Amino acid sequence: MILSIESSCDDSAIAITDIKTKKLIFHKKISQELEHSVYGGVVPELASRLHAEALPKILEECKPYFKDLKAIAVTTAPGLNVTLVEGVTMAKALCIALDLPLIAVNHLKGHIYSLFIEKETSFPQTVLLVSGGHTQVIEVKSLEEMKMVATTMDDSFGESFDKVSKMMNFAYPGGPVIEKMAREGDEDRYPMPLPLSQSPLIAFSYSGLKNAVRLVTLDAQEKDFPDIAACFQKAAVGHLLQKLKKYFKTNPPKHFSIVGGASANLYLREKIEVLLKPFNATLSLAELKYCSDNAAMIGRVALEMYEKDMFTPVDEVKTEPRTSL
Ligand code: KG4
Ligand code: ZN
Repeated sequence: MILSIESSCDDSAIAITDIKTKKLIFHKKISQELEHSVYGGVVPELASRLHAEALPKILEECKPYFKDLKAIAVTTAPGLNVTLVEGVTMAKALCIALDLPLIAVNHLKGHIYSLFIEKETSFPQTVLLVSGGHTQVIEVKSLEEMKMVATTMDDSFGESFDKVSKMMNFAYPGGPVIEKMAREGDEDRYPMPLPLSQSPLIAFSYSGLKNAVRLVTLDAQEKDFPDIAACFQKAAVGHLLQKLKKYFKTNPPKHFSIVGGASANLYLREKIEVLLKPFNATLSLAELKYCSDNAAMIGRVALEMYEKDMFTPVDEVKTEPRTSL
């Protein structure tokens, strides 16, 4: 079995995965959403302290499996440095104490492999990764062959939902709040700018849209919030659709997937389904419980890396907060 640790942002999670069967034997996650909610976003130092409390608690439950472990995996990049360090320190200590090799896992690869938890992999895939930290289109051929073909120039898709929620004094994370509120709203009431609509670039940008929402919110009353949420969501998703459509002109999709915390958004899922129809492309999604950060997805990548002996010597492991894929 492999024990995997995730602490790249505000979720402390540990998974134990069976190497032969790929089955998830154990998975537990402690989220810090409530603690960060009052601040409207993740406070790194607070997150770090909460990981230091939560991870040992979860690890305690994993002790019965220690004798069966063959490796320890941990997210080393990308993420918040002070929180990555918590998981990496625990992983190093376990490797030394139990004499096991260490597998350093990239969090974005983890999101991609959330599609294959307890399953075989299926490639190639054109992946839309939408989370709190990333908005990317990635062409994936295998574990080692991943090419990012579009990314955001400023804020990410999920982050823009968090910021709009904060503007209206609603909770963090904003994604689920805004999506729910948007269902009650009129998505045509306020005109919103479609980011980079005149630009030939296949790239994303959410800061202008965020500012447009801020200006509308300044003059609005609480009863207008569902309409604002609906108009914002329409533009935020419309922007993804417009750029994907452009990309598909030269790169028609065959197997498309959406991963990351914001892939839970049903409005986005429905619109992507419609976009894919003319291409007869398949659409894959992770199980809802594995869309947001978790350790099961880190464990799934670790299985592949274990088979390929992709270990890192304990004294060479380092956190790489800014590394992408
Ligand atoms: O993947 P994730 O758990 O953490 C990162 O790696 O960033 O993604 C969390 C992000 C947050 O910004 C959250 O607001 C967003 O995903 N999110 C959503 C929805 N559910 C979560 N955004 C839009 N609609 C949702 N339903
Ligand atoms: Zn994530």
